[in-house]
Amino acid sequence: MRAAVVEQYGTPVPTSFQEPVAADGQVVVEVLAAGVNPVDLARAAGTFYSGRQPLPFVAGGEGVGRLPDGSRAYFDRPVAPFGSIAERALVLPRATIALPDAIDDGVAVALGIAGLAAWLPLWWRADLQPGETVLVLGATGVLGHIAVQAAKLLGAGRVVAAGRDADALARTVPLGADATVLLDQRTGAELTAALKEAAGGSFDVIVDPLWGAPAAAALGAISRGGRLIQIGQSAGATAELPSSAIRGTLGEIRGHTNFLAPEETKIAAYRAMVEHVVAGRLSVDVERLPLEQVATAWERLRAGAHGRKLVLVP
Ligand SMILES: NC(=O)c1ccc[n+]([C@@H]2O[C@H](COP(=O)([O-])OP(=O)(O)OC[C@H]3O[C@@H](n4cnc5c(N)ncnc54)[C@H](OP(=O)(O)O)[C@@H]3O)[C@@H](O)[C@H]2O)c1
Repeated sequence: MRAAVVEQYGTPVPTSFQEPVAADGQVVVEVLAAGVNPVDLARAAGTFYSGRQPLPFVAGGEGVGRLPDGSRAYFDRPVAPFGSIAERALVLPRATIALPDAIDDGVAVALGIAGLAAWLPLWWRADLQPGETVLVLGATGVLGHIAVQAAKLLGAGRVVAAGRDADALARTVPLGADATVLLDQRTGAELTAALKEAAGGSFDVIVDPLWGAPAAAALGAISRGGRLIQIGQSAGATAELPSSAIRGTLGEIRGHTNFLAPEETKIAAYRAMVEHVVAGRLSVDVERLPLEQVATAWERLRAGAHGRKLVLVP
């Protein structure tokens, strides 16, 4: 079969790969669309924090496909060395979620790794309360675009979107952002002041896929008992944090990874997002590329896709 194969750590290449054969408790999925995520770039580069996957392997951690009974499902965590960016993938039935006909393949992919990492931090990790003020850092990414909408759907009062790309930041306003803050050259107290002004005070919940200088500045704008949910490190693996921001507010930094969320919590969150999409309350921009253009997809994500979910179609 055709697949995007990591033969050496770096960028996968489109080539032939052995067919997956299902052992007991596994199924072969006919892939319809596969997501490209920052974690796939890190895995292919051999730099993901959980360790290096043995070579060669098929890239891709999630997709939408047809199960052997003909039904369509979202799937993740394909069984190595098979990945999702291929004609077929090997999966465990418990890692699949049935899809209604009304949802597009690409949008269903976007609700997976990116969507769950937007929804779960707000709903599960932060326990967002009605009327709370939310800051979404990295609001210009796919996770960020979904998080802005998720915050409103989950009952937030004011939602502030902060990001670097001016066009993608402007697109958060029709998605529900009440104010935006451009992450430009400003850092430290200057950025904290801009964020506080946009909040009209301070933030109860901060969705943080960035870390680095933006997270440090955002902590200075956290409210009493506020929660910063740490999801990713797009702006830096380390950050110099003001101790007083946490001490003086009883604020908390809580980590989030989809990998450690309970299965039933993830499924409930995914189904809630699907319902919102079908009802027209949640949307995601999707851009499809053929599997043969996997290197272009890698390059596009590395350079910044600015809120468009890149999906590879075998
Ligand atoms: N913990 C989890 O389970 C989990 C799951 C999914 C994703 N993540 C992480 O969440 C992050 C976002 O994921 P995504 O799917 O939304 O990726 P994405 O679409 O590629 O978005 C990346 C975001 O990071 C911003 N960014 C990149 N470099 C930056 C820098 N130096 N300073 C400030 N902003 C910067 C981009 O801003 P511009 O568009 O403005 O350039 C964009 O908003 C990634 O770090 C990813 O690894 C974690």
